[in-house]
Formats: sequence, C-alpha cells, structure tokens
Amino acid sequence: PLIDPVPQVPAIYSSIGFSLFAFLITIYLVPALGPTFVKANLKGRDLLKVYSDPIPESQGLVVACVYILSLILFIPFAFTRSFTQLANAKPSPEGITVLEFPHHQLAVYLSSIISLLIASFLGFLDDVFDIRWRHKLPIPIIASIPLLMVYFAEHGNTNIVVPIPFRGLFGTLVNLGPLYYLYMIMLSTFSTNSINILAGINGSEASQALIIALSVIVNDLLYLPWAVWFRIPVHLLGSKADIEFGGLWGAGMSKGSQVLVERHLFSLYFMLPLVAVLTAFLYHNWYPARVFPGDTLCYLAGMAFAVVGIQAHFSKTLLLFFMPQIFNFVLSVPQLFGLVPCPRHRVPRFDPETNLLHPSKAQFLKPPSKLSTLVLRIFSILGLVDLTTHPNNGSILETSNLTLFNVFLVRFGPMKEERLNQLLMCTQVAGSVVAFVVRYGLAGLVYDG
Ligand code: UD1
Ligand code: MG
Repeated sequence: PLIDPVPQVPAIYSSIGFSLFAFLITIYLVPALGPTFVKANLKGRDLLKVYSDPIPESQGLVVACVYILSLILFIPFAFTRSFTQLANAKPSPEGITVLEFPHHQLAVYLSSIISLLIASFLGFLDDVFDIRWRHKLPIPIIASIPLLMVYFAEHGNTNIVVPIPFRGLFGTLVNLGPLYYLYMIMLSTFSTNSINILAGINGSEASQALIIALSVIVNDLLYLPWAVWFRIPVHLLGSKADIEFGGLWGAGMSKGSQVLVERHLFSLYFMLPLVAVLTAFLYHNWYPARVFPGDTLCYLAGMAFAVVGIQAHFSKTLLLFFMPQIFNFVLSVPQLFGLVPCPRHRVPRFDPETNLLHPSKAQFLKPPSKLSTLVLRIFSILGLVDLTTHPNNGSILETSNLTLFNVFLVRFGPMKEERLNQLLMCTQVAGSVVAFVVRYGLAGLVYDG
C-alpha cells in the first residue's frame, strides 16, 4: 500500500462523538459569551417578565458556529471508506493509484454547509439591522441555490407520484420540472420563517426545532439496516468485524436501497449535532430565559431542515413534521399580508399581577374591509380568535393576534409562560406522531408500495 492503512472509524461513531463535543462546547460557551453579546449591544428585553434586565440576544450565533464547525470537522470522517480504499489500492504499472471517490457526496456536503452559512449570516444581519419581514422573506431563496444546483447535477427527480384516486386524470407520474425547484425554494423559505414567527416565549424556538430534529432522526433510523445496530455491540467488545456501513450492505442490498441508506445517513450526520447544540442552548433558553436565540437560530435550524429534506429526498415527510408551523403560518396570513393590522410583536400579553399570559390584541384603527371581517368571523366561529365588536353597529374593533400561542390562550384560558411552551412541545410531538401515521400508515391507502 502507498500509505499506512487508515484505521477504520465508523462515521456514525464520529458523528456521535462530535455531537457530544458540540453539546459540551455550546452549554459552556452560551453563558460565557453572554456579557460579550450584551456589550456589543446584542441584547433584548424579555417582554413577558416584570424585570427589564438586558438578555443577550442572537445567541443562535454561538449555536451556528459550533454546529457548522463540527459539521466541517466531520467531513473527512464521512469519507473514511475512501481513505481505506486508497490505502489498499494497488498502483497501476505506471505507479498511479486510481481512486473512485464519491465526488457527488462531497458536493452534497459542501453545498449544504454553504446554505447553512448563508442562512446564519443572513439571520444574524436580521438580528443586527432588524430587517422588515417582507424584505427578509426571500432571503433563504438565495441560500438554497447551492442545494438546488447539486440536486440538478444529480439529475434530481422532479417527478411526483400521483395518488391512486387521481391516476385516471394525470397518470402515475407527473413531471413538475422547474415547478419542483420552485417548490424546493419555497420549502427553505417556509422552514426558516415559520419557526421565526412561532416565537417570542421562552424556549419556544429551540424546543420546536429540537422536536422536529428528533422526528427526522427517528425517520432516518427507519431506513438504516438493522443489522448495523446489532453489530455495534460486537464491535465495541473488541471484534475486528467491519461495521462500516458500506461493508454490510454489499451482499443483499440493491443499488436503490444503498442510495436510500446513504441519504438517510447523510441526514443523520446533520441532525445529530443539531440535536446536541439545540439541547445545550435550550438549557439556557428555558423559562426564565438567560439568553435569546435571535433570528440566527431560527434561520439556522430552518435551513438545516430544508437541507436534509431536499438532499435526502424526504421533503414531503419533513413538511408533515411542520404541522404546527404550517397551522401558525396559515393563521398568520391575514396579518402578514396586511388584511389585519400586525403589531411589531404578536407575543401574548403578560399580566404582572397574576404572572399569567393572556391573548394579545391587534386594534383596527380604521374599519376592517369586508374580506377582513369575513376571515375574522370565520376564525371566530372556529374558536381561533377573540373579537371585540362595536356595541352599536357590530363592526370589529379588535381581534386577538393570529398566532398559535394566542389560539391556545383563547381556547384554554390564561396560563403561565412555561406552561404555554410545554403545550407547544406536546402539540409538536403529537404532530410528529400523526406525521408518522400518515406517512407510513395512511400513505399506503393512496400510494402503492
Ligand atoms: C417575530 C414575530 C413577532 C414576535 C417576535 C418574537 C411575526 C410576524 N413576527 O418577529 O410577532 O413578537 O418574533 O420573537 O409573527 N422575546 C421575548 N421572549 C422570548 C423571545 C423573544 O420577549 O423568549 C422578545 C425579546 O424582546 C427579543 C425579541 O422578542 O428581543 C426578538 O424579536 P425578533 O426575533 O426580532 O422578532 P421577529 O422575528 O421580527
Ligand atoms: Mg425572530
């Protein structure tokens, strides 16, 4: 061999190892850097507290740095197999060693990291300059171009499988072509912004992202060959057995399932360190928060989900994990698009006397249009908003803000901030359970196989 054989370190071990490190570094760095952030004027006031001490804001920057650095350090480990191949390759008579390196996989890694970097950079700019949401909505579009390019280079599939009832009309497969790329662009815009607008109570941003990341991990594990997990203990006991994933599938596994395993391993390598840094951050962001995530964290997490959803080809399953965010977004549309007035902050109203949160209100300065009235009346019938109407002519004067948090408060009455976040977490978990049932249970009814 040309060089000494590189010891085989199964990549999944390295990923778990890096994640543990990332956890420890984040849990230490976040509070340690707090005063530095405050000094740089990156601070916010907790809107739902009696005290007004400055809280370090956009600490998602620390999370982003640790996360992205650990992903970069991990890259060589993801290609351990190639190093071993190089070590074992026999040089040709001319003395040249030819190595078949999976360039495409490297492109997937690099483009994903570029997208994460742009997303955190733009999120940070948003924290510093407070960009209006209308202007920042398209930001992730640019961040997703590298991803789409790699998707294209791989002759990415732009077909969608038509559900059985509609096959008479459309056939089995419909090629969406450029529309599919548009859909993927929208996915990254949605995933980043939807976390950012379901925010404002302690722990909410990090905990929803954490639960989505864990759901993605569970979904990835479903695709890995179970034999791997049985052989890990054998390996730990000192056996020289080759538990590199590649070594396992060789015999029985078709090319198609190999690709599937590779994609879900990729997703796993991106989600494990994300879970680690989010957990460490959440520890400090939990009620009563000592730090705030800022838009940096929302953008980073949202982009990480878009990256794995697109690169590992499970964007529809991913969207199922976003059900609470989709609900909150659809509900917010009238405020986002100007039908209903949208105050700078839509967080619930805090009552310092009782320490409870109440639905916050948006006031109509001029009478609402017919469309706004209709939409709000429908929401009111569905029990999603509290309306205050004029005693004489019945026109709407005030509505509770159109967010999921306010819906909880309208439906279940005032509650403590920590309680409200726990309710959000339960909803997110319940959403994921439903997502798995829909994906692996009900999908069988409208799709074959
Ligand atoms: C989004 C929401 C806004 C919400 C805000 C809260 C939309 C269109 N925008 O705006 O309604 O009020 O997020 O994050 O839905 N804060 C707390 N406690 C927390 C977290 C944040 O009080 O646990 C406050 C702090 O004052 C912090 C500020 O929210 O400084 C951060 O708001 P920012 O992220 O700048 O708001 P947007 O993302 O623009
Ligand atoms: Mg924000």
